[in-house]
Amino acid sequence: MPPPQPGQQKTPLPGIKHVIAVASGKGGVGKSTVSANLALALHMYGQRVGLMDADIYGPSVPLMFGLGTVDQTKTPFPIEKYGLKLMSMGFLVDPNQAVIWRGPKVAQAVGALLFQPPWGELDYLVIDLPPGTGDAQLTLSQSAPLTGAVIVTQPAEVSLIDARKGVRMFQEVNVPILGIVENMSYLGLPDGSKLFPLGQGGGAKLAAEIGVPFLGEIPIDQEISKCGDAGEPIVRKHPDHPVSHAYIRLAQTVVNELMKRPTGGALPEVEL
Ligand SMILES: Nc1ncnc2c1ncn2[C@@H]1O[C@H](COP(=O)(O)OP(=O)(O)O)[C@@H](O)[C@H]1O
Ligand SMILES: [Mg+2]
Repeated sequence: MPPPQPGQQKTPLPGIKHVIAVASGKGGVGKSTVSANLALALHMYGQRVGLMDADIYGPSVPLMFGLGTVDQTKTPFPIEKYGLKLMSMGFLVDPNQAVIWRGPKVAQAVGALLFQPPWGELDYLVIDLPPGTGDAQLTLSQSAPLTGAVIVTQPAEVSLIDARKGVRMFQEVNVPILGIVENMSYLGLPDGSKLFPLGQGGGAKLAAEIGVPFLGEIPIDQEISKCGDAGEPIVRKHPDHPVSHAYIRLAQTVVNELMKRPTGGALPEVEL
């Protein structure tokens, strides 16, 4: 298959200024958590933000936002919560019920979740991509007008191998890589020192290797998972927590990268 040219086969998303895909080659690296907190951090700047959960087999937006399946006749899509516009397969099918579809049907469902809801005017639409580089990811990277992709990795080599595959996929379909985020970078100890249980510096190393910006590191903190599991991500629940500051700085860095591009935007100043 010849690589598509920029703009080819893209379905427009009118009214949406920037579409940011958050991806990783591997599951469980913290992609959904980064997506949710990044979206909420952008919203803190007064931006109009949507979050689309493209993980059909393992949607996590409903859990992280304290929501379940939704009766569409009563609550129109996209669902609004904490100031964000949300879309997820988990609003249609109970996440505890397995979706057992083949690739083409999954790709179709992802397209419907993205293109059917009336998003209205948005400054940013964050797309939480499923792990891996399969049908759904490829279809979306080819058909959605992605401004750029943020790749999430953990510091360990096993995670980097998969992140490289994710990077390659976007490069093949000419989607710019905005940069690499390293999640679970370190564990902060009460005396201010740091432990590196998953290795050290892998994200920055990968960014240098492929020549893209390193967007920042998010520490391991049980408050992150606690808040996510309780339906209110940490940036919303504890905006003054040091970990929330890491996500807010990440949002600033992502927007700075976008600003360097012809379609870039700007964020107003927010004191940390
Ligand atoms: N920095 C972090 N510190 C602690 N727990 C985290 C962190 N990032 C993610 N988690 C937790 O790890 C698990 C997997 O994260 P998730 O965002 O669902 O990963 P993915 O979307 O890549 O599969 C979740 O329980 C989440 O709360
Ligand atoms: Mg996920």
